[in-house]
Amino acid sequence: MRGLIESRLSDVVPSETTWPARLHEAQRHALLSPGKRFRPLLCVFIAQGGGIQGGADLDAAITTGCVAEMVHAASLILDDLPCMDDADLRRNQPTTHIAFDESTAILSATALLNRAFGVLARLDQVSSDRRVEMIDLLSYAVGSKGLIAGQMADLANTDQGATIAEIERLNTLKTGALFDFSVESAAILSGMHASQRAALKDFSYHLGLAFQLLDDVKDAVMSNAEAEKSVNRDIGKATILAIAGSDASKTKLKAYLDSATAALRRAELSNMDMLSAILDHQFAFLRT
Ligand code: IPE
Ligand code: IPE
Ligand code: MG
Ligand code: MG
Ligand code: MG
Repeated sequence: MRGLIESRLSDVVPSETTWPARLHEAQRHALLSPGKRFRPLLCVFIAQGGGIQGGADLDAAITTGCVAEMVHAASLILDDLPCMDDADLRRNQPTTHIAFDESTAILSATALLNRAFGVLARLDQVSSDRRVEMIDLLSYAVGSKGLIAGQMADLANTDQGATIAEIERLNTLKTGALFDFSVESAAILSGMHASQRAALKDFSYHLGLAFQLLDDVKDAVMSNAEAEKSVNRDIGKATILAIAGSDASKTKLKAYLDSATAALRRAELSNMDMLSAILDHQFAFLRT
């Protein structure tokens, strides 16, 4: 599946030789660098668990997963800028503003974000009702009540008096919102019923919290080489780790994961074993 995702990602942005070449090179640098592809994998496997088997339906799920990855890549380009986290290493490569320049980085993030909506709009094999629903969901997930709101709150968040509930809200917006899109679009594509969708919403909520807390722990304990990105970017921020400490954070992380897994089980997907294995792999660090 990873191979199919990589090749689709390569297809959704213009080639490096397409004018303006530098802009397309920068987009490809950010999008095609070796990420975990967790959001597209989640989208595709959940769609499969909801009954999508192959052919045009599977193809649409792969493309939709890649749309989530495009938005993710755009958010990382911006997040790494000097005015935000000021990071120079991402996926073991120079960040986009270092490999190119800040203006190119900002424009390539904007272009990726724009193109993401166009790719969804052109999913001809999906009914127009479903396409509109997914476009609406994505617009919400990445917008000023979703990921961008979370990023805004994150940048302002230096208040060590912040409560855990406030940080959880921030993490839900910053990271959970795009998981919501990845999971809900899979539910739409596979025509899941309302109770399955409700269970999956609960799943992506807890998954977002777990994923960001794990990322915050890694930021504190790993080296750049281990994380394959610039770490120690959260110093001075009120993360759950900073407020509650390492032991309580690990306990919390496990509780989030347990809630995510329980919610996923309630969705009664046909490939629970495979989804559990993916989660195990993503959170392997917890067993170290
Ligand atoms: C990093 O996301 C940003 C967060 C939301 C924590 P990933 O950990 O999925 O990064 P890549 O895509 O594998 O590089
Ligand atoms: C970023 O969170 C999440 C986004 C929405 C971009 P982080 O700033 O913690 O992500 P990393 O650690 O740089 O990958
Ligand atoms: Mg950040
Ligand atoms: Mg960052
Ligand atoms: Mg981080």
